[in-house]
Amino acid sequence: MATDFLPLNAIDHIEFYVGNAFQAAHFYRNMFGFDITAYRGLETRDRERTSYVIEQGKVRFVLTSALTPDHECARHCQLHGDGVKTVAFDVDDVDASIEAVRSRGATIVAKPTTLEDDFGAYRFASIRTYGETLHAFVDRKKYKGAFAPGFAEKKVASTNGVGIAAVDHVVGNVELGAMNHWVNFYRSVLGFEQLAHFTDDDISTEYSALMSKVVQNGTGKIKFPINEPADGKKKSQIEEYLDFYRGPGVQHIAMNTGDICATVKNLRENGVRFLHVPDTYYATLIERVGKIDEDFGRLQELGILVDRDEDGYLLQVFTQPVEDRPTLFYEIIERHGSRGFGVGNFKALFVSIEEEQRRRGTL
Ligand code: FE2
Repeated sequence: MATDFLPLNAIDHIEFYVGNAFQAAHFYRNMFGFDITAYRGLETRDRERTSYVIEQGKVRFVLTSALTPDHECARHCQLHGDGVKTVAFDVDDVDASIEAVRSRGATIVAKPTTLEDDFGAYRFASIRTYGETLHAFVDRKKYKGAFAPGFAEKKVASTNGVGIAAVDHVVGNVELGAMNHWVNFYRSVLGFEQLAHFTDDDISTEYSALMSKVVQNGTGKIKFPINEPADGKKKSQIEEYLDFYRGPGVQHIAMNTGDICATVKNLRENGVRFLHVPDTYYATLIERVGKIDEDFGRLQELGILVDRDEDGYLLQVFTQPVEDRPTLFYEIIERHGSRGFGVGNFKALFVSIEEEQRRRGTL
């Protein structure tokens, strides 16, 4: 097997550009059970932007908003609305990582840079991926402070953690015809391998369709499905996203839990809105997936989906978009052997997604 020229330890964090970081932080705290752990802004002598770091399990998000109309975040939000700006990887060597991807054609946005304060040194760099989205490489081994230099520790614990453990996968939507370009980008520039291939035959209804390919890094820990719209009679959900986000971007972030029933029950009690699953979905579920540990009645009550493949099964559920525009949403997933993404559920879900699109007048 070829050596992995870009060893990535994990997703270090995901940074969002949002209209109001303070309110977003409390949305994620109250609805999704995140702790607020670090902050930068006027009180830390940053006059350009405000950021809140929020964490749950191994998931770490940074929510950033602009304090001036001239900050890049302000322009980004005006164009895209709230969305993911950067998916950052934890690496052992930022310089070697950036050299590996630069020599293979990556566009560098931030050269390797060290930020220092009394708590040590934090080194990072970043490159472009689809749309205006970035990937960063982060080395925080020599940093002992809160998140990064410039941030102050903040301890606002969630009152209602929901058991989210880690990021499972991050999905990008790209323009019609661009999926293979980005699959090749991840393969040739970042050394990822292509996992599975769904065609629009797999994922279609009468109206809308998509094509999706999945790439993963050398360790298999980091998985990025990439979607493009496919022809349908009406507007695909991917086109709806591209129209409202004004270009490619992150469509959904899937997060693992060890007990999806408890997690979804808590999220529902906190007010998180999920995609409606038609009752007809459950009528044939037992025949489709066979025996599983969970009670089918309980899954139906909570609107949880099940899919099985040769390796095992998975349980999953999708939220509705979490901002005003129909763009980013979340998936909660519990895996029992299956390494898939729920392809058997896509069609059932499309019916539900189209109901939502119809309500928005965007189908
Ligand atoms: Fe997913």
